Amino acid sequence: MRAHPAGPRHADVMPSGLIAPPAPDLSALDPRIWPISASRVDGVLHLGGLDVRDLAAEYGTPAMILDEADFRARCRGYANAFEGADVFYAGKAFLSKAVARWVDEEGLGLDVCTGGELALALSAGFPPARLAMHGNNKSVAELRRAIEVGVGCIVLDSYAEIARLADLAGAAGVRPRVMVRVTVGVEAHTHEFIATAHEDQKFGFSLSSGAAAEAVRRVLKHPSLELVGLHSHIGSQIFDTAGFEVSAHRMVGLLTQIRDEHGPELPELDLGGGLGIAYTPEDDPAEVSVMAAELRQIVQRECAAAGLAVPRLSVEPGRALVGQAGVTLYEVGTVKDVDGLRTYVSVDGGMSDNIRTALYDAAYTCVLASRESDAEPMLARVVGKHCESGDVVVKDVWLPADVVPGDLLAVAGTGAYCRSMASNYNHTPRPPVVGVSVVDGVGASRALVRRETEDDLMRLDLG
Ligand code: LLP
Repeated sequence: MRAHPAGPRHADVMPSGLIAPPAPDLSALDPRIWPISASRVDGVLHLGGLDVRDLAAEYGTPAMILDEADFRARCRGYANAFEGADVFYAGKAFLSKAVARWVDEEGLGLDVCTGGELALALSAGFPPARLAMHGNNKSVAELRRAIEVGVGCIVLDSYAEIARLADLAGAAGVRPRVMVRVTVGVEAHTHEFIATAHEDQKFGFSLSSGAAAEAVRRVLKHPSLELVGLHSHIGSQIFDTAGFEVSAHRMVGLLTQIRDEHGPELPELDLGGGLGIAYTPEDDPAEVSVMAAELRQIVQRECAAAGLAVPRLSVEPGRALVGQAGVTLYEVGTVKDVDGLRTYVSVDGGMSDNIRTALYDAAYTCVLASRESDAEPMLARVVGKHCESGDVVVKDVWLPADVVPGDLLAVAGTGAYCRSMASNYNHTPRPPVVGVSVVDGVGASRALVRRETEDDLMRLDLG
């Protein structure tokens, strides 16, 4: 019995806290959450002009559908909002050859943080000069490759790495552009930040301990390194500029100290990524144009106060460019009414394709995608097929009470950090990423990353 004629049920037993009352129309697609091409045609979800039932039939489920137009529009939005600054897409959010090409075509830079991400960017023909290389433990091989191919900037993260890169560059007769990664003691999550967060973390050089100033001293001693600026990254899913304000204040303080101690002013300042997106209607991130204008003003104000020329800014959004472009399609396998508590809707994926709910307690929303329904809302928990009770995809969502096996559910906002953090847990082949776009008014799709097969998994097992 899953119909709820008396109206929404289970709302009083939400162990996870508040949940918004059901939307008047459970099929509505909030444009702040869904990709720009998402629409309903006769009740069925369409992405990139294509019926999701056809996408599911062609590519199977689960599948991540990536809206190319949405991704490109956000790249353009960031490039425009940050005109005069550099925007680097953080490839860790999701990277494939097609995405690297889109980033290139939109004129953005690309951040990589491992040899694998670097190899992928190069194999897609991404111009090395617009790559930046991060990472707290880059190997000698990774650093060597980075300087061999002429990566545009290497962000230095430890004293050992400064010496290592200086030696490699000296031996190769090159002079890579480098930044020093600074831990500014600001930690930001959504709209909250801690200005005096302790600096007990693996990334970068602490500002307050003097390690960052010492790192700058050491870099400047190496003629084989060209120090172009400072870098910081204060967190993720940030909704306003309050944390960046404190960070910029402290970074400009260090730039001033460097000028006073060494003479020249460093020309570049990278404020990292972390700009947030709406996963659910409760999320309310600032518009990119507002964020960009505020960031610029903050840096200008701080530099004016310190008597410094304004450095060239850069930012590194990952989630904000690709998060909303991605939608995961699942097929419902079972619907279990755990009476008096909630209805568990099991789908054919789970924590192997989206670990974020289990790992970060992340909130998502989803809709019945394959048909219309005027059934009453039921409060549901969408769970995966893995052998853990923590295998939750969407913790709390209102779905029509007549959801049945075979229905398709679409989870919004899965473009960032879902496929890139996917695993083979329980020997589950990872899902494909299917690009969709409208070409000459007609929807088109293509697998950007194909589905893994059991044979792929068996190939690694040497018996
Ligand atoms: N730049 C640096 C140096 C970073 O470490 C990161 C993310 C970014 C840029 C991009 O951050 P974004 O704009 O995407 O928030 N797996 C987590 C996120 C970890 C982010 C780590 N660094 C998640 O799924 O939420």
